[in-house]
Amino acid sequence: MVYEETFEDGAGLEDLVEVQFTLNGRKRKVSVEPRELLATVLRDRLGMTGTHIGCDTTNCGSCTVIQDGQSVKSCTVFAIQADGSDIITVEGIGNVTELHPIQEAFQEKHGLQCGFCTAGMIMQSYWFLKENPDPSESEIRWGISGNICRCTGYQNIVDAVRLAADKMKTKGGS
Ligand code: FES
Ligand code: FES
Repeated sequence: MVYEETFEDGAGLEDLVEVQFTLNGRKRKVSVEPRELLATVLRDRLGMTGTHIGCDTTNCGSCTVIQDGQSVKSCTVFAIQADGSDIITVEGIGNVTELHPIQEAFQEKHGLQCGFCTAGMIMQSYWFLKENPDPSESEIRWGISGNICRCTGYQNIVDAVRLAADKMKTKGGS
């Protein structure tokens, strides 16, 4: 039971704050410490392990999620700041049997190698393509410039985002 949880550092019931938000279309309620980051709450309390933590210092973008229509680095948001908001993680945009067009494009263009950055890249692209549905290569490079990939050299990711834009024009994808 979340309400009875006591943490190793001695935080207990009196330190917890109840937070409610919509996560991938479902209302969720969770008790958190005021110091807890949205990224860790999504992963450790709510099972959304697609959201990765690569740096914890707002550099890598692997923790990117959508909060109220904006892409945010969830390691830079306290969970209590998510109260009342609408959160979308990579688990909320597609699944194994029905990939989102951005996920399809990453697969088809080999836009990943180890995959650590991929959920963040996809969520950043998800936001970016809503802002700019027909981006040039340089605009795509700007759009993902807050996300670091240590494997691909970026070209395949850029190609994937461009393909995703084409797919979303014909197939849609919200
Ligand atoms: Fe959030 Fe790196 S873990 S930016
Ligand atoms: Fe490995 Fe991007 S695919 S960090």
